[in-house]
Formats: sequence, C-alpha cells, structure tokens
Amino acid sequence: MKALVLAGDSGTRLRTITHSRAKQLVPIANRPVLFYGLESIAEAGIEEVGIVVGQTASEIEEVVGDGSAFGLRVTYIRQSEPLGLAHAVLVAREFLGDDDFVMYLGDNFVIGGIAGLVEDFRRLRPEAHMLLTRVSDPSSFGVAELDHGGNVVRLKEKPEHHRSDLALVGVYMFTPAVHEAVDAIKPSSRGELEITDALQWLIDQGRDVRSSVIDGYWKDTGNVSDMLEANRVVLQSLERRIDGEVDDTSQITGRVHIDSGAQVRNSRIIGPVTIGADTVIEDSYVGPFTSVDHSCVIHSSEIEFSIVLPEASIQGVGRIEASLIGRQVQVAPSPRAPSAHRLVLGDHSKVQIRP
Ligand code: TTP
Repeated sequence: MKALVLAGDSGTRLRTITHSRAKQLVPIANRPVLFYGLESIAEAGIEEVGIVVGQTASEIEEVVGDGSAFGLRVTYIRQSEPLGLAHAVLVAREFLGDDDFVMYLGDNFVIGGIAGLVEDFRRLRPEAHMLLTRVSDPSSFGVAELDHGGNVVRLKEKPEHHRSDLALVGVYMFTPAVHEAVDAIKPSSRGELEITDALQWLIDQGRDVRSSVIDGYWKDTGNVSDMLEANRVVLQSLERRIDGEVDDTSQITGRVHIDSGAQVRNSRIIGPVTIGADTVIEDSYVGPFTSVDHSCVIHSSEIEFSIVLPEASIQGVGRIEASLIGRQVQVAPSPRAPSAHRLVLGDHSKVQIRP
C-alpha cells in the first residue's frame, strides 16, 4: 500500500496570517502540521509516499527532504495548478500504479493517527473508504448524508443548507477503482475535479464504498480557536526535555520542552509548553498550552494558551491569552500617550483590546 499526500496549492485561499506560507506548514506545537500526517502514515506501516506539490514545492521539499527522517521514501509529484483533489489523483497515476493507497490532505490533522483504520481497510478491502467526523459548521466542509443503514448516499461540497453534520475528514483509502471514477467525472462549478464527485460516482455505480466516523480531527479553517485547540491536544502528550539554558532564578514546572539555544532567565514556565531554538524568555511567565516558536523574545510579559510564531517579540505588555501571534510580529507598550493604541495589523488580523 502507498500513500498520496496532498501538499499542493489550495483551492480557496487565505484566511489567517499563517496562510502566507504553505498551509501544510502551519505549526502545531512548533512542528508543521504535515509532519504529523507523515508520521501517521509511517506508523500505519506504509513506506512509499507520493507528495503532490504546487508553487510552494521548494518550501515543502526543504522540510521533508527524501522522507528518511520519517522512515519513508518520498517521491514529489508536481501539480501545475490546484485543479482539485481528484485532479491530484490523476497527476499521481503513474506513481500510484495499481496499488491501494491512503490519500492524506497535508493540512489536516487526525489525532491518534490512522494505523487502525488502515489495518481495517487492508483486511476488509472495500473499493473506497472515507472518514467522517461531526462538525459544528458543515458549510466549511464536504458533507456526507447517510441512509438509515449508515451507508453514505450523498456527498456535498460546502453546502449552504446542510442535512447532516458529518464532514469528510481529509483522509481517504482507495483501491485502483478510484481511477475509473476520476476519469469519469467532470470539473465542478468551481472548476475543480472533486474527490467528493469521484466518491459519489462510485456510490452511484453501486460499488463498495464504506465510511467510519472518527473523533479528534482538525483542519485549518482559519479559526484561531481551532488552532489553539489542536495545539493544546498535541502539547498534552509532550515529554519534558530541557536542552536550552535555564538560570537559577527561573522555575520550570511540568512537561516543558526547551530547544537548544533557547534561554530562560528569571521566568516561570508552567507546562505543557514548548519553546523553540534561540528564543529568549526573560522576566516573564509562560503558562500552560503555549507554543513559542524559534527565535522569539518574550520580555517582562505573561502569556498563556497561545501560539507564537518564529521571530516574534513580546515585550512589556502584561498578560496575553488565547492568542495567535504571527511571524516577526512585535508587541510592545505604546510610548507615553496614555490611552491610545497604536496598531499595524496585517490583512485578516483580529485584535481584542480593553476599551
Ligand atoms: P483545500 O483547498 O483546503 O481543499 P478543500 O477542498 O478542503 O478546500 P477548502 O480549503 O476550501 O476547504 O486543500 C486541501 C489540501 O490539498 C491542501 O493541503 C492543499 C492540497 N491540494 C492539492 O494538493 N491540490 C489541489 O488541487 C487542491 C485543491 C488541494
């Protein structure tokens, strides 16, 4: 069995600040979301992986390399334009050959991995198997309608009026039957070859298409609270490891990971917390469920339940909570002017400030 990981450009664009780069590299606990997918594939006993890449190919190739760090053999497959998830299957035809495969969307996150699901698929070998999960906002997802027997009868991409709260998770298992479906379907109204249409085609042909409902699924819909939640879940299983420097006046409690080159001075850190390489924390408090990426500065501040991306600086601003701070962002007190906020916020930013 092979895996096909989709890390090309995406159909719809740009929602949070993190989307200025390849969205498969959005960090969860300071590691690209794509890494968790690759690890789950390796855990499921799959070694041969095709990664579909688009314009951000070099960013992806730089961090994943030949895949050996994950115990995988990676082949990169170029998709010239993001013409749909089923189009990605089409361009990977030669790589896939006549093998069964798991298709994994590189910006999706399945908590607890996929090993059990892949094992079931290998044993039962339906022609296709999709994963579903309950969501509160079905209109941001592909949605499945089931009959009374629990069989999927209809799939709809981002329905305005939804009859089900079961969303498609970005992990699918296929036999080569999917290639017939991909060849048979036409582009949708948004001009993409949709994997939902390919699955619908198989269902309409009476083929053996099954589904299972899982918990613990995340994709970046641009919702910061979802990102914080994914971060929280991963940090929960963090192991304590202090490779950086911590001085005598600092206190580190619980599961805290401090990368080498990081420095903690006169500060209190209560885990689970991860601190990236070359970050400096001084005269500050970092509270549970916080990820501070590499090369950041946190000085005379308090931060909890937040994500701080590389090279950000937070200095002298009191307490920050439930926040996502982007790359190279600077948060500092305003000079003198007592009741004015001075803001330089990028596109799609959101700030909440005390009136
Ligand atoms: P998305 O564009 O997110 O797919 P989606 O149909 O879920 O769209 P939306 O964002 O509107 O919910 O892409 C999912 C993943 O697949 C992402 O890692 C990018 C990748 N991808 C490709 O590699 N090729 C493609 O043609 C498309 C559409 C996506």
